[in-house]
Amino acid sequence: MRVVLMILLGLVIGVLGTTQVMGVLAARNPMPKAVMTTMGYHMGELSHALKARQCDAAKIQHHLERLQSTATDIVPVFGIDEKSFTDKAGELQTHLQQTLQAAPTDCATLAAAIKPIGETCKSCHQQYR
Ligand code: HEC
Repeated sequence: MRVVLMILLGLVIGVLGTTQVMGVLAARNPMPKAVMTTMGYHMGELSHALKARQCDAAKIQHHLERLQSTATDIVPVFGIDEKSFTDKAGELQTHLQQTLQAAPTDCATLAAAIKPIGETCKSCHQQYR
């Protein structure tokens, strides 16, 4: 009987410990920030290129592709189930898709393309950040 009780107690402690650890891990989920930091880096590289007037077509395409694929992680990673949030994330993906298709090759077309992208970042940040 004592052995059975000890085993049960061990199980209960184990389960409690696991849920606690999982809670701590969830609270420290680094993914939302990681996704945003990655997008911030690529947007930063694009605006540096614009400022330096060095708009290399291959580099532009690389940063746009990274932005586009990273943006698809926003909704699954943030887990914010509000229509306005998912709409804005979708809007960002649409703008990035269109920009990639337009394939800007110089600073003037890049500047025009990047504007609606930056505005979408801003509009979601104003509401959710
Ligand atoms: C659908 C909503 C949404 C869109 C679109 C969005 N963001 Fe964010 N972003 C957030 C939220 C929410 C936070 C706050 C995250 C946190 O503090 O955990 C954030 C935070 C950030 C941060 C700060 C990260 C940190 O370490 O605190 C950066 C940088 C960033 N976003 C860049 C961007 C860029 C660049 C774009 C556009 C290409 C973008 N975001 C588009 C919702 C969005």
